[in-house]
Amino acid sequence: MDGKKAAGRKAIDEIEEGMTVGLGTGSTVFYFLEALAEKVADGFSITGVTTSQKTAELAEKWQIPLQSLNNVKQIDLTIDGADEVDPSLNGIKGGGGALLYEKLVAEASDKRIWIVDSRKKVDRLGAFPLPIEVVPFGWKHVEALMAGKGYRPRLRQTTGGQPFVTDAQHYILDLHLNSIEDPEALADELDHVTGIVEHGLFVNMTDKALIGYPDGRVEKLVKEK
Ligand code: 5RP
Repeated sequence: MDGKKAAGRKAIDEIEEGMTVGLGTGSTVFYFLEALAEKVADGFSITGVTTSQKTAELAEKWQIPLQSLNNVKQIDLTIDGADEVDPSLNGIKGGGGALLYEKLVAEASDKRIWIVDSRKKVDRLGAFPLPIEVVPFGWKHVEALMAGKGYRPRLRQTTGGQPFVTDAQHYILDLHLNSIEDPEALADELDHVTGIVEHGLFVNMTDKALIGYPDGRVEKLVKEK
């Protein structure tokens, strides 16, 4: 079995009747949504809050009841994917370009769980390019600033060679860092750059990761208190 499918379907065990559930984005979340849709079809009641247009379309197609983030006070649990997860449960997200809405939904959640396949588990973050979401106005200046720091930014583009545009109408620069020594310090630095709306470093933002293996096994990584 695909590790993504194993992790995605396992996450359904975490959902309780009546919960407001944050619905992440990506190919691993697809399997979670599929399992959730099956439960909903059997009469299980939950309210979903989506993190992207793509997830909203899928949830609507599968008749998962939705509310917008503005219409809920708080979210009980969010299930989302990630691009890398380290042993402290810090991670890189945004490979699918939904990092801003994913972080907003994560911050409104009491509990957060990541679902990933085993290739995403790393000792140190940074081999996966770190996405930063930037405002299109003057983005080349942010790019130059990042390049000057040695962060090797590259504008994310569509296959047609146009800038990739996020759901919030921003651009993405992917920082090719190779290795991130101090995720917290880098997150703090990026938080203070004008023009960067959000970055894909999620530090201390997850309680548990479900890691799926090709043999169907799912390992649970839990945050140490
Ligand atoms: C989207 C994300 C995704 O959760 C992340 O890219 C993982 O995606 P996938 O499950 O398809 O590998 O952060 O912005």
